[in-house]
Amino acid sequence: MSVPMEISVQNVTNGGISHDQTGIVPEPGVASSPAPTMAEDKFLVSVEVSLKPSSTARIEDVKLAVERMLEKRSLSYVDGPIDIPLSDTFLVDNVQRICICDTEEWVGNHDILLFWQVKPLVHVFQLSEEGPSEDLDGDSQLSSFSEWALPAKEFDGMWESLIYESGLKQRLLRYAASALLFTEKGVDPFLVSWNRIILLHGPPGTGKTSLCKALAQKLSIRFSSRYPHCQLVEVNAHSLFSKWFSESGKLVAKLFQKIQDMVEEENNLIFVLIDEVESLAAARKAALSGSEPSDSIRVVNALLTQMDKLKSSPNVIILTTSNITAAIDIAFVDRADIKAYVGPPTLQARYEILRSCLQELLRAGILSSSQDGDHVILLSYAGLKDKLASATTENSQSHWDISKYLLEAAEACEGLSGRSLRKLPFLTHAALVDSKCHDPTKFLRTMINTISRERSEIPE
Ligand SMILES: Nc1ncnc2c1ncn2[C@@H]1O[C@H](COP(=O)(O)OP(=O)(O)OP(=O)(O)O)[C@@H](O)[C@H]1O
Ligand SMILES: [Mg+2]
Repeated sequence: MSVPMEISVQNVTNGGISHDQTGIVPEPGVASSPAPTMAEDKFLVSVEVSLKPSSTARIEDVKLAVERMLEKRSLSYVDGPIDIPLSDTFLVDNVQRICICDTEEWVGNHDILLFWQVKPLVHVFQLSEEGPSEDLDGDSQLSSFSEWALPAKEFDGMWESLIYESGLKQRLLRYAASALLFTEKGVDPFLVSWNRIILLHGPPGTGKTSLCKALAQKLSIRFSSRYPHCQLVEVNAHSLFSKWFSESGKLVAKLFQKIQDMVEEENNLIFVLIDEVESLAAARKAALSGSEPSDSIRVVNALLTQMDKLKSSPNVIILTTSNITAAIDIAFVDRADIKAYVGPPTLQARYEILRSCLQELLRAGILSSSQDGDHVILLSYAGLKDKLASATTENSQSHWDISKYLLEAAEACEGLSGRSLRKLPFLTHAALVDSKCHDPTKFLRTMINTISRERSEIPE
């Protein structure tokens, strides 16, 4: 049996589908990878361009216009949206948003890239507004899968909202890029073994399901020139094990036949998400011990066989998640090449998650953006660390004090999941005695109390 490896994909070769098309490039300073001087000795930086829903412009035309606009822009490159010049009516009419991505990979949180150091890789896309289509299973009214055309409006911004220890998201992107490159180049799987099955495992609420969806969305954007049609199929494992077991075998066959049909079109890139795979394992175990109908083992086996069949198709990536963090020695997981542990957020991640929540409350006007006549400034974690290192005790009272409270709150949240963190601002607001209070400092003080209450309610 093959031994799944923990994710650690760093040495991605240069060129081909992976870097030219995706901007997913080797980490600087990784021992055996080439230096980060890519095309023409420049850093490849991805620039994502989202078209307006109403736009009918050709992707190629927009790409050219953005490239030209960027050439004229003698500014720095940092992650985030950039303004579209009002004088460029073509872009103003057609483009919703232009976003610089992944620069932090090169320079960390501290430095910036200057325009002459950068070769932008422009990816133009239009979000699908269709929403999921579901397949309802006859009588039971349980859908056995949901399906989205990617990139989907529903997942817009999800990737950016997920905050992890540095590198996790990039490593996943690079892994997928390498897997697709190997396939594209026809590497013989008997000589070099790899597959396109990813398992994210970790405690509840750490964003595994969201990360799978966000990864599929991101890849659909980065690979859009090679694969103009991308689809995400979310298999509902629970409904496959509904009480209509006798139907389940048929459901699996029907589902995978559908996936197989999509895969046959070589311009399609298909992501299959099988969430909470441990439910399959549990069903199998129960069947073996005789406490479940033997149908269930047939269903699991059918699923595994179908997955093995799919593995040979070059344009499929199978994404799986599991809550079981200890060794998972089930046949299912054994098939995954890449296992990435997704743990509770670190202090920096907790700070950034809470900061993004607060920024949203400021934007929505629930919190006041000025305090004692000063504009409220929420420093980034790296910015705050710098300030704290250089601040003297005399001038420590300042307009960025609010960030210090935020750090205190983030420290108090140790052990809470990302899901709990994102709920905190709401619980805090509900706990305010004066619900019309817009003062960010008071809000953060209340938040710190709310955190200790939340923590005391976590079951041991
Ligand atoms: N690291 C994180 N950064 C930002 N948000 C996070 C993070 N982890 C979790 N969240 C938030 O928590 C919510 C729940 O995440 P999700 O359902 O993907 O977790 P999960 O790991 O699949 O949970 P479960 O194991 O219970 O299925 C998401 O909407 C996301 O906003
Ligand atoms: Mg989940």
